[in-house]
Amino acid sequence: MIKAFAVSNYRSLKNVVSPLARLNVVTGPNGCGKSNLYKSLRLLAETAKGNLISSIAQEGGLDYTFWAGPDNFTKGMREGSAPVQGSAKKQNARLRLGFVGEDFSYAVSLGMPAPQGFAGYQDPSMFQFDPEIKRECIWVGDVYRPSNCLIDRVGPVVKVRSGQKWAVYNTHLNSYESILNEISDPVAVPEVHAVRQTIRNWRFYDQFRTDTDSIIRTPQIGTLRYLLLVAALLTPRPLPCWY
Ligand SMILES: Nc1ncnc2c1ncn2[C@@H]1O[C@H](COP(=O)(O)OP(=O)(O)OP(=O)(O)O)[C@@H](O)[C@H]1O
Ligand SMILES: [Mg+2]
Repeated sequence: MIKAFAVSNYRSLKNVVSPLARLNVVTGPNGCGKSNLYKSLRLLAETAKGNLISSIAQEGGLDYTFWAGPDNFTKGMREGSAPVQGSAKKQNARLRLGFVGEDFSYAVSLGMPAPQGFAGYQDPSMFQFDPEIKRECIWVGDVYRPSNCLIDRVGPVVKVRSGQKWAVYNTHLNSYESILNEISDPVAVPEVHAVRQTIRNWRFYDQFRTDTDSIIRTPQIGTLRYLLLVAALLTPRPLPCWY
């Protein structure tokens, strides 16, 4: 079970830390970020399949996916007297995703590559707009602390805790590869294996087949699903005026 989920700088989610129970219902006005919360969880799940960077590309790239609002909300913005406007992105701006699990917790941070030389001096890479995985951590317990961190990846370097010390495990990890996909040694680094398996066990049910062979078009014995009923009752979309 996921005990908590955290996301920062993903679309309209500037900084969200959400404790989770066995059943969670997300509700709110249109455009408040319900789908963004769900999408961010799906994006985190892609990490364990090695699809994190390509999923961001499919969403339109990190620039599009990144929080477009201001870095800080002024007093005027909070009171509604000043418009909420985006500010220039800092070079070290990061999109962060993470969760607290039963045994281990995990977080990943993404950012844009460092600028490559000056125009005309050095050809910029063809992939200069692809985000990079800047950091990944696996730790025990609910809250990250350097003392409970077990795996720490910074750029291409992966370090594994060994007693009181750190051992360098890999120094050449590609910026587009996650440790969850690249490190597959359940004996030397069982924590990575455990987190990968946890995430791979997540299931997302958000598509309904509507074709002629769809199961919802075939005769069925009627069943009552309280979960669907709750979701239908809580939808914030107002009824059309002609209803
Ligand atoms: N990069 C971004 N930065 C900031 N805000 C963004 C970004 N991309 C989208 N948004 C905002 O996210 C909001 C849409 O969020 P979302 O689709 O999650 O809403 P929702 O609660 O699911 O709405 P609905 O009830 O209509 O489905 C919009 O207000 C949009 O302006
Ligand atoms: Mg929505």
